[in-house]
Amino acid sequence: MASRVRLMQTVARRSLAKRLKGQAPLVIQSHAHSTSSQAAVSQQSSQLPPSTEDLIGMEHKFSAHNYHPVPVVFAKAKGVEVWDPEGRKYLDFLSAYSAVNQGHGNQKIVDALMEQAQRLTLSSRAFHNDKFPILAKMLTTMFGYEMMLPMNTGAEGVETALKLARKWGYEKKGIAKDEAVIISCCGCFHGRTMAAISMSCDNEATRGFGPSLPGQLKVDFGDVNALAKLLEENGDKVAAFLFEPIQGEAGVVLPPDGYLKKVRELCTKHNVLMIADEIQTGIARTGRLLACDWEDVRPDVVILGKALGAGVLPVSAVLADSDIMLCIRPGEHGSTFGGNPLASAVGIAALEVVVEEDLCKRAEEMGAELREQLQAVQKSHPKLIKEVRGRGLLNAVVLHQKGLGNATAYDVCIGLKDRGILAKPTHGNIIRLSPPLTIKSEQIAQATKAFRDVLESDLPDLKLHAEDRIPPKTPDACDRCGRHKYVMPETDL
Ligand SMILES: Cc1ncc(COP(=O)(O)O)c(C=O)c1O
Repeated sequence: MASRVRLMQTVARRSLAKRLKGQAPLVIQSHAHSTSSQAAVSQQSSQLPPSTEDLIGMEHKFSAHNYHPVPVVFAKAKGVEVWDPEGRKYLDFLSAYSAVNQGHGNQKIVDALMEQAQRLTLSSRAFHNDKFPILAKMLTTMFGYEMMLPMNTGAEGVETALKLARKWGYEKKGIAKDEAVIISCCGCFHGRTMAAISMSCDNEATRGFGPSLPGQLKVDFGDVNALAKLLEENGDKVAAFLFEPIQGEAGVVLPPDGYLKKVRELCTKHNVLMIADEIQTGIARTGRLLACDWEDVRPDVVILGKALGAGVLPVSAVLADSDIMLCIRPGEHGSTFGGNPLASAVGIAALEVVVEEDLCKRAEEMGAELREQLQAVQKSHPKLIKEVRGRGLLNAVVLHQKGLGNATAYDVCIGLKDRGILAKPTHGNIIRLSPPLTIKSEQIAQATKAFRDVLESDLPDLKLHAEDRIPPKTPDACDRCGRHKYVMPETDL
């Protein structure tokens, strides 16, 4: 694993060097060989602003290695466009994992932030402030729930929903003390806190962090019969079913049509809260305000995050009706920053932009355009692209590992980066494409052309660089369910 990471870093460095070739000379300090203090001092003493390589080196030295970023540094962004410190321009096809639905630096949202920042930033909820109630009213009206509970990050929203479900389970459903169970789905992703990873079956997220929280069961995503069976067997103890309407981190996995409706029926039948984690899929990303709207399904609890803060500030919220929400009483749950006036001002502006710029419609139309164009690339390269799938502007290209040889989806992303398109692999051979919803047709065409060019012109070079590399390992079977959830069968080449 360590050698594979080293090789990836080598490819990344080669790629960076290739891109820097032919540009005005830059003062580049190779931090791979420098000490931490040299890195810091060189930055201060050379009056030049730090370069891409300086910054990547500094981050590698001083920050925990809990991510494996594509080697590009964001220095400025507007709409779909991003610039690095050297002024190279890219198109953002990740949107900070769907947090920047409204586009980078949306003027209305930035103005709201600036205006509020000069007036009042934090009251804590020990007192009231003059912005949070406006957000609460707007959010509940827009999404059709009686109440909301504000938090900051998505994972905190998930924690809140789980606590709410347990409380409701004991108080309203009558589950015996400490016996409440929450069902979640294989392949799910709900964040990185202990409760969220306890729901996960991704070894990378869970291994070495045990024991997981008690009171949870797993079921296959999209399998209503399995859910029905689990509820028949355990229904009395089950407080909630937590799910993503489309599994984003797992690789944009869509459930079969009619799944959400059937889940709604089962939850109602067994008096179980249906909790939709719409942190990634919500706020227009899939072409509807909520992905559950595609099946006209109303969950009991909805969790929002990411685009609620428009990529400007972390803003999350849990929505529910009062009979559920009021199970949490003063002092039982909260957050110093949740509902702060600065985040509330940003949240209000973020929602207004979604409506004013008709972002649901844009996501639906632009998403269809993106998939159509990528499917044309797939037709020309069926041995490289296995599937193009998604809804609205939450999409994925599934690559054939056999066609890639030793190269990986990460290498393809490096190729895309070199051609000005920023995307990131999710699990295995899957590249997620989720640009800001403000994207234009020309930009979609640019990205599709880059994808085609990488496959047609760059892949031999990427494979060559990958030659000395250990072939990508088949991911381990899931520790929890014992299956290879993220491995696609390779029989149809
Ligand atoms: C579906 C889902 N839930 C929860 C989270 C966690 O959100 P955050 O990273 O803001 O804690 C994410 C983040 O990617 C997500 O996609």
